[in-house]
Amino acid sequence: CQFSFIILDLLNNPMNKKFITTPIYYVNDSPHIGHAYTSVVCDVYARFFMLKNLEVIFLSGTDEHGQKVENAAKENGIEPIDFVNSVSQNFIELTHHLNISNTDFIRTTEERHKKTVEIIWQKLLDNNEIYLDNYEGWYSIKDESFYQEKELQKQKGEFLTKDGSKVEWLKEESYFFKLSKWEKKLLSFYNENTDFIQPKSRRNEVISFVKSGLKDLSISRTSFKWGIPVPNQSSGHIIYVWIDALTNYLSALNYYDNENSKKDFWNESVHVIGKDILKFHAVYWPALLMAVGLNPPKKIFAHGWWTNEGKKISKSLNNSIDPKKIIDEYGLDQFRFFILREITLGQDGDFSEKSLLNRSNSDLSNSLGNLFQRTLKFLEKHFESKMPLNIDKVDLTILNNGYYLLNPIEQNIENFEYNKALEIIWKYIADLNQFIDEQKPWSTIKEDKKKTAETLSVLMESLRLVGIILQPFIPGTAKRILDTLNIKENERSFEFFNKDFSLKEGISFKKVEQLFPKLDE
Ligand code: ME8
Ligand code: MG
Repeated sequence: CQFSFIILDLLNNPMNKKFITTPIYYVNDSPHIGHAYTSVVCDVYARFFMLKNLEVIFLSGTDEHGQKVENAAKENGIEPIDFVNSVSQNFIELTHHLNISNTDFIRTTEERHKKTVEIIWQKLLDNNEIYLDNYEGWYSIKDESFYQEKELQKQKGEFLTKDGSKVEWLKEESYFFKLSKWEKKLLSFYNENTDFIQPKSRRNEVISFVKSGLKDLSISRTSFKWGIPVPNQSSGHIIYVWIDALTNYLSALNYYDNENSKKDFWNESVHVIGKDILKFHAVYWPALLMAVGLNPPKKIFAHGWWTNEGKKISKSLNNSIDPKKIIDEYGLDQFRFFILREITLGQDGDFSEKSLLNRSNSDLSNSLGNLFQRTLKFLEKHFESKMPLNIDKVDLTILNNGYYLLNPIEQNIENFEYNKALEIIWKYIADLNQFIDEQKPWSTIKEDKKKTAETLSVLMESLRLVGIILQPFIPGTAKRILDTLNIKENERSFEFFNKDFSLKEGISFKKVEQLFPKLDE
C-alpha cells in the first residue's frame, strides 16, 4: 500500500546517512601530525552526526600498493606483503592514539578491495573508456603522479615538481583512460554542484586546471610488480596506484556486492583530503565515476598544510612530528583542541608547541577547566554535590543561549567551519564564567541561599550542555564532564540537548577532579 511505501522511503532516506572518509595513507611514511589532522577533522564530523543519531560510516585506511611502497620494502630487505602487513599497523594504532571513531579501516591489499578495482576496470573497458598505447613523459614516484612539463620547475638543469620532488622520464606501454573527453562534463558538473569542491578557492583552482585542458590519463604501469594486475591479460600491466587507491571508497561500501552492499551511503559521501591530492579527487575521481555510470561523491573538502615551526614537513628535513609524542606530552584533547581551534579549516597552519601550550592553558585550563572546577567545588561545599533546583525555577536567559547552540554548530560542522563552532562554544563558556563573577555565589550564600541555588542550577545545567556539545571535538574531556554529572551513557546524544532532559533537583554529582593540568613551558 501507499503508506508502507512512504515508510520505506523514510527508512531509505539518504539524508539519514553520512559517509565520511580520510585519504588512505601511504604506508611507507610514519604517521605524522598531517595524517593525524585529517583523521581528527573527519572524526569530529562523524561523531557529530552519530550524536544526531544518523547512520554514519567513517572510513580510514592505508594505500599499500605502488612503486614507492615496493621500493620501501626493497630497502628494508623484505617482501612487499610482509612490509605492508607490518607498517599498516602504525596507522591502525594512530586511530587508537587519536581516539578516532572510524567504523571501518580499509587496506588496499584486502580481497574486498581487489575485487572492486577489477570490476571498475572491467566497466571502464566495457564502456569503451580505455585504450592501449605508449606513455612517454615525466613521473614522480613520491606523488605517484604524471606531470606535464609546464607543471614542473627546472633547478640546476634538473626537472622537479613544484613541491621539489624528483621526476623521472618514463617510456612504456600503458593503458589510458579517456579523461580528455570528460572535460566539458566535469565543468558542467562543477557548475551545477557549487558545493562539490570546498573551500571556494580550491574550487576555482580545479576549474581553471580543467579549463586549461585535460590529457588522457595513463592508468597502468609495466616497470614494477607491486599492485593489482590488469585483469585478463598476460603482459604484466599493473593498475595505476591512484585508480587502485581512489576505488577504496567504493570497496568499503561493498558497492558491487549485491547482498552486502551499502551503496545507499554513496550519495552522502564526503571526502576530506589535503590540498596535495585535490586533482586526483576532484578531477580524476568524478570523471572515472561518471565513466562507469556512477555519481561523483557529494563533497570534497581540501584542507591546508601544516608546517613545523615554520618549515615544510619533509623526510629530507627530518622534521616530521610524531602525534603520539605530542599526545603523550600534552594530552590528547589538548592536541585535538589545538589543531581544530588554531586555524581555519582550509588554510595552512604552523604547528608550534608554544602555541599549543598557550591555547591549552588559556582556553582549556583557564576557561573550561576553571568553570567546571569552581562550580562543582562550590556545590560540594554548600549543596552536598546535589542539583539545587529544577530549572523551571530559575531565570532561563543564559540557559536558552545554551539550548540555541546546537543549530548554528551543526551548520558550522556541515561547512567544516570548526574553529567558528569552537569560538561559539567558548563564548558561551566565557559568558558562564562572567555570570559567576556577577552573581558572586560566594557572597550571596551568606544572605540568600535561594538565589545562590538558582545560580548554581543554571551553571550545572549549562555544564551538561557544554559536556554534550563538546563530545565531537574533545571526546575524552566531554566524557569526564558528563561522567561527573552522572549523565547516563545513553542520554548523551543531541536528542537530550533540551529542557526536557535537564538535570533534576536533588540528583547528585561525583567528586570533581581537575580537567586539565596547567602546562609549564
Ligand atoms: O597521498 N599537513 O597518501 P599520503 C596537512 N595515498 N595534512 C597532511 C600533511 C601536512 N603537512 N601531510 C600529509 C596519499 N597530510 C595517497 C592518498 S586517497 C585515495 C590516496 C595528510 O600518505 C593530508 O590529508 O601522502 C594529505 O592529503 C594526506 O595526508 C596524504 O597522505
Ligand atoms: Mg604524500
